[in-house]
Amino acid sequence: MKDRGEGPAFTMSAGKISATGADAWVAPVYEGEKRLSGDAAEIDRACGGLIGERLAAGDFKGTFREICVLYPRGGLKCRCVLAAGMGKKTEFRPETVRAVSAAAAQKARALNLRTLAFPIDAGSTPLNPPELAEAVVEGVALGLYRFAAYRTLDTEEAPSPAQVILAVGKGRSRPVVEQAVQRAQIVSGAVRLARDLVSTPPGDMTPSALARVSADLAAARPSLSIEVLDADRMREIGMNALLGVGCGSHEPPKFIILTYRGGETDASPIVLVGKGVTFDSGGLSLKSQENMEGMKDDMAGGAVVLGAMAAAADLSLPLNLVGLVPAVENLPGGGAYKPGDVLKSLSGRTIEVMNTDAEGRLLLADTLNYANRYAPQAVIDVATLTGACVVALGPELIGLFGNDDALKARLRAAAEATGEAVWELPLWRDYDEMIKSDIADFKNTGGREGGAITAALFLSKFVGPHPWAHLDIAGPVWAKKDRPTIPKGASGVGVRLLVRMLRDWTTATP
Ligand code: BES
Ligand code: MN
Ligand code: ZN
Repeated sequence: MKDRGEGPAFTMSAGKISATGADAWVAPVYEGEKRLSGDAAEIDRACGGLIGERLAAGDFKGTFREICVLYPRGGLKCRCVLAAGMGKKTEFRPETVRAVSAAAAQKARALNLRTLAFPIDAGSTPLNPPELAEAVVEGVALGLYRFAAYRTLDTEEAPSPAQVILAVGKGRSRPVVEQAVQRAQIVSGAVRLARDLVSTPPGDMTPSALARVSADLAAARPSLSIEVLDADRMREIGMNALLGVGCGSHEPPKFIILTYRGGETDASPIVLVGKGVTFDSGGLSLKSQENMEGMKDDMAGGAVVLGAMAAAADLSLPLNLVGLVPAVENLPGGGAYKPGDVLKSLSGRTIEVMNTDAEGRLLLADTLNYANRYAPQAVIDVATLTGACVVALGPELIGLFGNDDALKARLRAAAEATGEAVWELPLWRDYDEMIKSDIADFKNTGGREGGAITAALFLSKFVGPHPWAHLDIAGPVWAKKDRPTIPKGASGVGVRLLVRMLRDWTTATP
């Protein structure tokens, strides 16, 4: 891989935006306001009323994510001002800042502006300076993301702004803002990593490659350690459900275990589990051409867990964590597992394979059971598990299932804060009979109806006596069109959600 598409450098300046020397200044403008206020008013004064003029003329209204480029004549210390529409003040959400910052940064890139300055201090939003800075940095870093590692043509086209300056003013808040900026850079770096891993072609992002990436992440972080179980080891301990899925591929499966120690030595860990199917052809229950397209993204849950573990370590969160990523390729080779096979899972329970394309729940069964070894205080799995979840919730929502209200409340709070929205679906016990097998303990599909629910119910059979949540990210894993902070392609959705939940773990009680 050539270029990891690193984002711009973020710096802070203590003072007015007009003193930053940036190519462009961003002026946040709300829709329908009679008079400009806060930062926009200040910038408007500095550029001789240009923004007010456009507003009065009615060709800039300040609607959400509208960007108006203004070129001041003479005297001003910037090439242009980007008046950025914030939408109606009454509709403000934390997401507004991320989305508008991303739009401004994208416009700056299109205009080939090298440095861009955002005002952080004049009360333009209900957010305090560190919150605002964090949202701006995330919006810019995520909105400018591109996956260019495989391009050899047009590589010079529209480079991203090299530097983004946050004009913080002269207040005392600088160190806190600095921390927030650092935090946002760590978290967006983790999202970008997850996007890179998911975008990488399946021939390159094999289970072994995913294990190598994990080893590199651990090698760069003293608080992170790694162990990778190979097929022999998995056979010894009896992970036959996971191994069954891998049988049809020449690529050896890998079971990746990342451990982060940031809490008390004896504190029970939180275990994060991520589905790592590096390509899902469906196996012998082969997918159609249309459904197979894009199945390189079936390791996104694993990528999310790797990103979250790296971020947790970089943030020095006061917790113990374990990240488990079963990495395997689902192919229909000569050794492939077959519909009708019965697999004896790590838990000892037997599973009749009805459909080799319902492979995610098989590897997760063994992984969730493996998680019990840690006597965890909670387990959260992230998986592109079912097409049925996409049908139920559409392309933006994460399906949430779980056995514990407090854990679900933590995830909902994190979803609220990050904009990575979750919607709960029920673990409906009466559907248990849909996954009963005639010859084994369970079967791996429950039919088309309620497919996301029966998949989650299946997982629940392998979960120990601790709080557990399951996040089905099959919908939001890949953006089919540009979204405010998610350029078309791999979304990295789940990273910010998990990191936020972990950050709040000890401070917030749900
Ligand atoms: N990886 C797929 C689920 C998926 C579908 C993710 C669409 C992203 C977009 C999963 O392994 C799968 O194939 N599930 C089957 C289950 C069925 C055979 C019971 C599905 O959803 O069709
Ligand atoms: Mn499948
Ligand atoms: Zn799959």
